[in-house]
Amino acid sequence: TSLRAEARKQDILIGSGAINPTYLNDSNFAAVLATQFNSLSPENEMKWSFINPTKGQYNWDTLDRLVSFAEDNNMVVKGHGLISGCCNPDYLLNVTDRTALRAAMKTHFEALMHRYEGKMDRWDVVTEALKTQGGGLNNETFFYQVLGPNYIADAFHIAREASPDSKLFINENLVESLPGKRQELYNLVSKLVAKGVPIDGVALQMHITEVAPKPGVVTEMVKSYNELGLEVSIAELDVHTLDNELETDIYGAVVSEALDAGITDISFWGFTDKHAYTWIKGAKPLMFDQCYKPKSEFYATHAAL
Ligand code: XIL
Repeated sequence: TSLRAEARKQDILIGSGAINPTYLNDSNFAAVLATQFNSLSPENEMKWSFINPTKGQYNWDTLDRLVSFAEDNNMVVKGHGLISGCCNPDYLLNVTDRTALRAAMKTHFEALMHRYEGKMDRWDVVTEALKTQGGGLNNETFFYQVLGPNYIADAFHIAREASPDSKLFINENLVESLPGKRQELYNLVSKLVAKGVPIDGVALQMHITEVAPKPGVVTEMVKSYNELGLEVSIAELDVHTLDNELETDIYGAVVSEALDAGITDISFWGFTDKHAYTWIKGAKPLMFDQCYKPKSEFYATHAAL
């Protein structure tokens, strides 16, 4: 059976992120995506410089294509990239005034969230707010530099106004493996919640390198965020190693612990090791090989579902 058939029994989303709509031209790619997954999210196509490269001009074609593919195949689309550290166009980077930047965010968020109202019901609003290795907010990001630390709260308020019914996530990397950063994210999110910032969940990227998250860590995070009234999802799981056995074990262990902990939304960052389609060129991080043959990682995931 497929991953999505297993997922249906538990009423969970099992998805692939990193879907560049041009990959759908490859019929094998499209077939595996539609057969195995019940959700998808774009790779870079929703990031500001991709979707809105010059003021007022939006490249809707690519994202529309993703949405219609999802509709045709009965899949959920997850919004990814409202605010990202990378990929901000020059016209935006030239904004130095706080009011003007908030207005630009509002225009941009409304354009995206209104166009896909009813078609995307969950969004990563802010991605990678913390320094990669931990040690506080990443103060090098453009939004931080103009708006200060409150850019995160601003972004969530603007997103909520644009789309009152969507689930709004903060997306972060490496917290499953760095205890200090894990605590920082918790402190940040609990402060946002205490201040009434409209946030619904924490999306764990989970780009895992050689080291598997310690058993119990994901469970602990789910518990503590649930206590704040928030949901936890997995947004971008992949495993960057050439050790196939280790990779297989990590896939199985992470998916199984996530489900036991009550996570209902798991996405991988792509599904085929085909080099043109994965951002990690030096490893074989995904569940299908370059010819779309399921690897042991697939079977471990399937067994965990
Ligand atoms: C990555 C894309 O896959 C690459 O093509 C791009 O060059 C950089 O961004 N965390 C995220 C994703 O939230 O948006 C990133 O995607 C991977 C790390």
